[in-house]
Amino acid sequence: MARPSLLVALVLAASLFVSNAGVAEASWWRWDCFFPSRRHGGGDHDHHHPSRRGVASIVTEDVYHSLFLHKDDAACPAQNFYNYTAFLRAAARFPGFAAAGDLATRKREAAAFLAQISHETTGGWATAPDGPYAWGLCFKEEVSPPSDYCDANNTQWPCVPGKSYHGRGPIQLSWNYNYGPAGKALGFDGLGEPELVASDPYVAFETALWFWMTPQPPKPSCHDVMVGRYMPSDADKAANRVAGFGLTTNIINGGLECGIADQPQVNDRVGYFRRYCDLLGVDVGDNLDCANQKPYGSS
Ligand SMILES: *[C@@H]1O[C@H](CO)[C@@H](O)[C@H](O)[C@H]1NC(C)=O
Ligand SMILES: *[C@@H]1O[C@H](CO)[C@@H](O)[C@H](O)[C@H]1NC(C)=O
Repeated sequence: MARPSLLVALVLAASLFVSNAGVAEASWWRWDCFFPSRRHGGGDHDHHHPSRRGVASIVTEDVYHSLFLHKDDAACPAQNFYNYTAFLRAAARFPGFAAAGDLATRKREAAAFLAQISHETTGGWATAPDGPYAWGLCFKEEVSPPSDYCDANNTQWPCVPGKSYHGRGPIQLSWNYNYGPAGKALGFDGLGEPELVASDPYVAFETALWFWMTPQPPKPSCHDVMVGRYMPSDADKAANRVAGFGLTTNIINGGLECGIADQPQVNDRVGYFRRYCDLLGVDVGDNLDCANQKPYGSS
């Protein structure tokens, strides 16, 4: 969340470029042509069947592979780590995820989450095979962390000596004050065993969904923002923190990326979001960036 993912990706672009054999995945709409019955999973007609409202009906296994075309390339450090089963099993712990509102809202939330974790773990670069936005979930752990991300002043979630709270997993969970509460909510020792987030794919996806679903006041949850449940405070209104994909960027890393025009990391997040909305067949909605928003804590 705090790591400069794009810079890391750029530094590694050269090494990735040497072995970029494309994955010959059929895109999901072609699979639908071959297997028309698969369309039924996400249709509006099953609106009233709660069991089919989960994320699996929107992000089928075929869709998952068409979104993350290169995640299992040999050049990606996360090769074979972020598998579909782990994603679904983690999502099962958060039944509200991609299950609120109409079909378009559910698709847009799924696209937003998957876009944000893709930016956080991207191995893409401008001229990458299949484009810069086909390289999500390439990394599982921050490369060369500049510190151990220990806020020693935080006494509620005290750092364990020798442990590092650098970016790990799909959302690149960082800092003791995130590892601690994530572990508490999910049932692992986040402060004592932060390594689990980059060694167990279930835990990895769970931390990303925990971050997405959990408000950390004064920030709302990304989930509430994407499903229309965000209630801006007076401070939010003064800071122009309006609902939309851009506000999820503000929640995740606004201090470094928001209130800045044409910010490259923001553009990368938006690029992923556009591609994923396209693949899921939903419009992107309003307020894609956060150039005109103040970050949290600044006002
Ligand atoms: C997905 O990852 C889990 C956890 O490592 C593993 O048990 C499972 O076999 C993997 N599934 C596939 C299809 O690779
Ligand atoms: C921690 O507290 C010390 C002493 O009050 C202060 O100098 C330092 O800036 C604080 N660190 C952070 C990360 O807030």
